[in-house]
Amino acid sequence: MNYADNRFMEIAEPLVNNKEFQKMKHIEHHDGSVYDHVMNVSYQSYKIAYKAGLNWEATIRGALLHDFYLYKFDKRFRLKLPLDALKHAVMHPVRALENAASHFELNEIEKDIIVRHMFPVRIPRYKESWIVSMVDKHLAVQEYYQNFRKSTSKKYREQYSTIKFSKVQYSEAK
Ligand SMILES: [Fe+2]
Ligand SMILES: [Fe+2]
Repeated sequence: MNYADNRFMEIAEPLVNNKEFQKMKHIEHHDGSVYDHVMNVSYQSYKIAYKAGLNWEATIRGALLHDFYLYKFDKRFRLKLPLDALKHAVMHPVRALENAASHFELNEIEKDIIVRHMFPVRIPRYKESWIVSMVDKHLAVQEYYQNFRKSTSKKYREQYSTIKFSKVQYSEAK
């Protein structure tokens, strides 16, 4: 993200400097934090909305707040995990909107961006909401892929060091 983009930062800053907003830094999201994720979604969405002549200010703000749910989703394996994941997918935009509305004044586009970003769970009403929903999905796939690559390469390194270690043990035992 280009922090030197004054147009983006002017709109983003009042939200980003908010104490509640900063809490997203401590909530995990794939390989990073929810904070990093919403900053990326907001910046990419803004670039598209600006070029398309849409309401880019609302796009920045709505995207920054689209995952403002402020709880940690437990991804550890358990029998109820698929059901919990489904509940999270459906309900986190509602929680995000409640939190956002209690800390910031929102217009209709911003509310729609937040509560309808999980298409096809809810269908966006504005072009700005479609942009944020699509950018969110696109970045989520990228983040999953990066996370997957990282975790598999770590496993590979661990396996490799175990093999090396057992070889050393073998040669010392001889
Ligand atoms: Fe989300
Ligand atoms: Fe998201």
